[in-house]
Amino acid sequence: MIITIDGPAAAGKGTLAKRLAEKYKLAYFDTGMVYRAVGCDLMNNGFSVDDAAAAAAAAQNMTFGKMMSLANHPDFRSAIGGQAASKVAAMPKVRQALLKMQQDFAKNPVASDGTKVAGVVYDGRDTGTVVCPDADIKLFITASPEVRAMRRHKEYLQKGLPSSYDDVLAQTKERDQRDSSRSSAPLRPADDAIIIDTSDMDIDQVFNSVCKIIDQR
Ligand code: C5P
Repeated sequence: MIITIDGPAAAGKGTLAKRLAEKYKLAYFDTGMVYRAVGCDLMNNGFSVDDAAAAAAAAQNMTFGKMMSLANHPDFRSAIGGQAASKVAAMPKVRQALLKMQQDFAKNPVASDGTKVAGVVYDGRDTGTVVCPDADIKLFITASPEVRAMRRHKEYLQKGLPSSYDDVLAQTKERDQRDSSRSSAPLRPADDAIIIDTSDMDIDQVFNSVCKIIDQR
C-alpha cells in the first residue's frame, strides 16, 4: 500500500503522515528531507545554495545514510534550511538525481522501529505526481498561507527558535511561489488526488476524515 500526501509547507502533511504510518503499520518517508540534505551539504562545504553545478553534484552523491546524518545539522529544520531546500529543489538535475532514492524506499520499506512493513506513506510536493504516480491513495493537503505561517511560527517558538510571524508569512509565500512556478515537478495535486483544505480543521479532524477514506478503499 502506497499513500502519497502532497501540499504546501506547514499544511499538516508531516503530522498526518506519521499518524497514518503508525495506524496502518507503514513506513514513513518525508521527502523534503532529501532536498534539505542537499541544501545543508552545500552550506557545510561553503557552497552557495544557488550554485546549480555544486547542488547537482551534492544530489548525485546523496545517500539515505548521508541524508540521515545531515538531519542533525542545526539548520536542517530551520527556516534557512527550508529556503535552501526550496532553492535546490527547483533545479531539474537535483530532482532527477534524487528521484531513484525516493522510489527505491518503497521496494523494501522499514518502519521507524526497524520492522519490515508492507507499504509507505510519502509526504512531499510531487510524491503523487512524480515519485509514485501509481500510488493507491493520493491526498493533497492544503491551508491558507496565513494559517500555515501561524502554525510554523508557533512550532519555531515551541522549539525555542527565534521567530516573527510576518517573516514566516513572507517566507511561506515565497516558498509557495517558488514551489508552484518551477519548471520541474511544480507543486500541484495529482489528477486523482483527494484535496483537503485544513484551514478550519484540527489535526484530529483531518486524521479521522482521511482514515475514513482509507478504510472505505
Ligand atoms: O516539506 P519540506 O518543508 O521539508 O520541504 C522543503 C522543500 O523541499 C520544499 O519547499 C520544496 O521546495 C522541496 N520539496 C520538493 N519536493 C518534495 C518535497 C520537498 O520540491 N517532494
